[in-house]
This record gives sequence, C-alpha cells and structure tokens, in this order.
Amino acid sequence: MDTFTIGGDLEVRRLGYGAMRITGEGIWGPPDDPAQAKRLLRRVVDLGVNLIDTADSYGPEVSENLIAEALHPYPDGLVIATKGGLRRDGPGQWPRDGRPERLKRCCEGSLRRLRLERIDLYQLHAPDPQVPLEDSLWALKELQDEGKVRHIGVSNVSLAELGRARAVVDVVTVQNRYNLTDRHSEEVLGACERDGIGFFPWFPLATGDLARPGGPLDELARARGATPGQLALAWLLARSPAMLPIPGTASEQHLEENLAAADIELDEAEIERLGSAA
Ligand SMILES: NC(=O)c1ccc[n+]([C@@H]2O[C@H](COP(=O)([O-])OP(=O)(O)OC[C@H]3O[C@@H](n4cnc5c(N)ncnc54)[C@H](OP(=O)(O)O)[C@@H]3O)[C@@H](O)[C@H]2O)c1
Repeated sequence: MDTFTIGGDLEVRRLGYGAMRITGEGIWGPPDDPAQAKRLLRRVVDLGVNLIDTADSYGPEVSENLIAEALHPYPDGLVIATKGGLRRDGPGQWPRDGRPERLKRCCEGSLRRLRLERIDLYQLHAPDPQVPLEDSLWALKELQDEGKVRHIGVSNVSLAELGRARAVVDVVTVQNRYNLTDRHSEEVLGACERDGIGFFPWFPLATGDLARPGGPLDELARARGATPGQLALAWLLARSPAMLPIPGTASEQHLEENLAAADIELDEAEIERLGSAA
C-alpha cells in the first residue's frame, strides 16, 4: 500500500480506519460488545493500518477509550488522529463548540483517555459560527507550543476557511465529506494536493445509488471481481495522492474487504467512468 507523509514526518499508509462506528447506536454510548470492538481495533493494526481517526465526541469518549484499552502501549508508527470542537448532548446531536478554553479542556481529555503525552494529529472538528475561527485555531496553536499536539488539522471547512486557518497555524490535514457522489470539496481537495496537505474524505463509502444492481459501480465491480464499496475506495485512492480515506466499520469482514481496495488499480477509462457516473 503506498504512503503519504503527514506534516513532513508522519508516514502513513493511505488507507486508514475511522473509529466512529465502534460506539453505540447514534454514535452514543458503548457498543453492544466492547470486547468485539477491541478485537476489531487490534485487527486493524494487525492488517497494517497505521492511521486511525477518532474524536472525543464519538460516544462521547467511548471511541478514544476503546482505542487505548485495545492498543496501548501503541505500536511504533501508529498515528492516532483525534478531534475536538463538538459537544454531544444526545444521540445523533453534534452542536459545534469552538471556544478556546473548551478546546483546551477537550484536548487534555483526549490526552488522558488515549494515554498520550502528545497527540500526533489534533483536528478542529468544525468551525463554530459563534467563535472566530482564528480564536479556535490559536487555542490549538498554544497546545502545540506546549508540546501537547504535534500537528494540527481542520475539518468541515470551505476553501476560504482553510485559507484563514492556514494564516494562523500550519494545517497539515483537512477532513471533509467527500466520496464518489459528493464532490462539494473539489476545490479544497485541489488546494490540499497542491500544497502537500493530507485530505481525509469522510463518509467515503456513501456510494448511494451507484451501488444499486445494474448501476455503473455494480457493473464495473462485477467485471473487476470486486465489490462496489471497494471500487468507491479504489477510486478515491486514484483521485489524488493526497487522499487518505478512513472508512469506518464495526465488522471485521468489512474491514478486510475495505483494505483490499488498496490492491485494486483502476485504469484511466475506469476512473473516468466511475467519476462521471457520480
Ligand atoms: N469530520 C467529520 O465531521 C466526520 C463525520 C463523519 C465521520 N467522520 C470520520 O470518517 C470515518 C468514516 O465515515 P463514516 O463511518 O461516516 O462513513 P463510511 O466509512 O462511508 O461508512 C461507514 C458505514 O458503511 C458501512 N460499511 C463499511 N464497510 C462496508 C463494506 N465493506 N460493505 C458494506 N458496508 C460497509 C458501515 O457499516 P458496518 O459497521 O456494518 O460495516 C458503516 O455503517 C468515521 O469513522 C469517522 O472517523 C468524520
């Protein structure tokens, strides 16, 4: 699997794992079978993944706690990317909260739960319309200056917001929704690719109608002996060298299936056909 170097010093395999789906229903509370979730996390690492995305809000706290319980002490080279900046008031609710003092408390909580002295990649989960973006990023910069955060990323940003963030801190990754059927972040992706910033497309498997029987993905998948989901991931990997998909799953079978997408090389015609099908 080819690699990407985040922030000039964190080399990761380009297909990572999103640890949002190992919590309870509505990304709320513990999963039904925490032992199984921890087995899955160990399998993620055994299969060679060295980029795991999480957030304090997944559970809340559940995803980070499970990661530490399953994987600490962490193997060399494992990058755990976490986020702060959302509150959780109930299942399915994600209000934004980017107040500097709260972001600092969130980061301290993540450090404690993940049992780390420094977080490799700390991402602002989303800009808070009530707080100037610069103020939120200054808080992350202070955490970085204190040695609590190695690199800073942003999430759910427009091109203009990315520019404002980069005026305050060295942004090394962007995490925006992006997949075959949702390409609203093309411009942001372009800026990331141009400037060596990693791009995490969240919701990478939302293939929607494309996966329907007889649809363009379905037909190509059968011709390639692959699944539609694998083609959606292979297309993302082919789309840009900055692309770092983090598909989420609670199933070991799906995990293995997703990781096998890294071995699928699409030719230009297939990339074109998949891309235009969206
Ligand atoms: N920054 C943000 O605002 C934000 C928002 C959302 C997510 N994220 C991050 O992005 C990661 C990925 O996003 P996501 O989990 O929402 O979307 P996703 O990876 O596109 O889809 C996950 C869903 O697809 C299913 N799935 C996974 N592999 C499959 C396969 N091979 N075949 C069939 N179904 C499969 C999973 O169910 P099973 O468990 O049954 O496999 C799960 O319901 C998250 O884990 C999280 O780390 C970030």
